[in-house]
Amino acid sequence: MISIKNLVKRFGPFTAVDDISFDVEKGEVLGFLGPNGAGKSTTMKMVTGYLSATSGTISVCGFDVEEAPLEARRAIGYLPEGAPAYPDMTPMEFLSFIASVRGLSGDEAMKAIDKAADRTDLRNVMHQPIETLSKGFKRRVGLSQAILHDPPVLIMDEPTDGLDPNQKHAVRGLIADMAKEKAIVISTHILEEVEAVCTRAMIIDQGKIVADGTPAELTAKSKHHNAVTIALPESLGEAPTDTLKKIDGVSEVRVDKGANGENRFTIFPKDGAVLIEKVSGQATAAGWDVKALYAEEGRLDEVFRTLTTSDAEIAGRAS
Ligand SMILES: Nc1ncnc2c1ncn2[C@@H]1O[C@H](COP(=O)(O)OP(=O)(O)O)[C@@H](O)[C@H]1O
Ligand SMILES: [Mg+2]
Repeated sequence: MISIKNLVKRFGPFTAVDDISFDVEKGEVLGFLGPNGAGKSTTMKMVTGYLSATSGTISVCGFDVEEAPLEARRAIGYLPEGAPAYPDMTPMEFLSFIASVRGLSGDEAMKAIDKAADRTDLRNVMHQPIETLSKGFKRRVGLSQAILHDPPVLIMDEPTDGLDPNQKHAVRGLIADMAKEKAIVISTHILEEVEAVCTRAMIIDQGKIVADGTPAELTAKSKHHNAVTIALPESLGEAPTDTLKKIDGVSEVRVDKGANGENRFTIFPKDGAVLIEKVSGQATAAGWDVKALYAEEGRLDEVFRTLTTSDAEIAGRAS
């Protein structure tokens, strides 16, 4: 549904998007993850025809965004950064305006407005000026504008930015509901959002794609993937470290001393090996009084920090 090839955007001497290529299929919810300034919004602006590319090609539902801009834009719903709307209009007036821009009129327009307002829970504020609405409602006005013509492709720039946890949950539910019939791209810097709604995540840094995979695949790149933590009584001291290090497939053991009279040993595997049964067996054999034992899937935040430079710099400065 979306096909991007060798896309580049330069602002003067500065390269904001640096030769990226990818496709998005129907049924996919792709999450752009990246630090501020990575190039997420700029990429979205080029896909939606709001900015033209310096070089490269973008096609949406088979339409090249430069050569067939109207056909491409018809296929797209776009929630821009900050969800702009006309503040003195009511949601009803704004959505009616958008409907007419989208070529809908009469009954068809009313039905589309009704449905979009329902899906975004705008019913109770349809006749109140947008400038008087809370940030959450303003964002939902933006969302209903984006989905009004039921487009096959949805591009949403930080759709849950500024929403409270309940509203975030509702918007994620809406995205999940629409996912099957559309190709959806969202940008976010909320890692849990990627795990909650995205079928695929792309980490972008300095205009380049540095990782692309399912959230589980990205999480598996974490040092903590399949790491096992065992909590033992403080009275055992650090002696278990040596025993744990001898287990086949262990690369490193770290000790966290002390809370609640316990020491926590985290056992990192070589090559993502599964260690929990071996650790449990060792604990039984040694007669340790185990307070807790668990394995981790991995930490997306750690993968994000490892792969993105601005945060890597911060980590470098801190250490
Ligand atoms: N119109 C513009 N003129 C000059 N630089 C820009 C412009 N728009 C964006 N940039 C720069 O391009 C980079 C990428 O911006 P953006 O795509 O908004 O990042 P993100 O959405 O990932 O936070 C940033 O360094 C930003 O300052
Ligand atoms: Mg942005």
